[in-house]
Amino acid sequence: MRSDQKQRLEEFYKTLNEKGIEAFKFLSLVTRKYKPKKVLEIGSGFGIGSSAFLFDTDVEETVTIDKIKDLEGFEERVKIIGVKNRVTRIIGDSVETINNNIEKWKDNFGMVYVDGNHQYEGVLRDLGAVWELNIPIIILDDFFHKANWEGRYGIPRAYYDFFKEKDVITNVFTDANGYAIVKRKYEK
Ligand SMILES: C[S@@+](CC[C@H](N)C(=O)[O-])C[C@H]1O[C@@H](n2cnc3c(N)ncnc32)[C@H](O)[C@@H]1O
Repeated sequence: MRSDQKQRLEEFYKTLNEKGIEAFKFLSLVTRKYKPKKVLEIGSGFGIGSSAFLFDTDVEETVTIDKIKDLEGFEERVKIIGVKNRVTRIIGDSVETINNNIEKWKDNFGMVYVDGNHQYEGVLRDLGAVWELNIPIIILDDFFHKANWEGRYGIPRAYYDFFKEKDVITNVFTDANGYAIVKRKYEK
């Protein structure tokens, strides 16, 4: 890594807590492993995902969707880490946005990060829309977050109900608040 990039990373880490840094590191590793050219993110949020997908990687573009216009820290972080010019930020509902772009976006992304609405119905709805885009790698965030067992989130249950009859392979990781990485199986 170049020295100016090291400096950017240090500045970026100063804006995050420990969990945020862990999330960034995990998502960076996943990006390096799967080498997508384009990434879709549902839930732009704090800019951790967008930054991880684009910083010091070969990803050409991250398209990120969030229903909230004025997000705290998003613009600041992608600027600090130097990836702003490769981020396409869309303000709107995740599923409506995907459905409006279905023809353009189908077969166009190498990886998707599902980190928007965390409730059971919301996750199912996002997975339904994402599935139609035929994306080979689907990352689900907060898979082991305690809110899943307190009834506030419904990520593992939505995962199970959605994928139980689909041809996929899943790996789970305990980094940050937990991730499931779902790989679509394709006939050779
Ligand atoms: C946990 S944050 C995302 C964090 C972000 N991925 C990151 O790495 O910094 C969840 C975001 O999802 C957004 N969201 C929730 N439901 C949504 C929906 N139906 N459509 C678009 N965005 C949604 C919220 O506004 C919130 O900013």
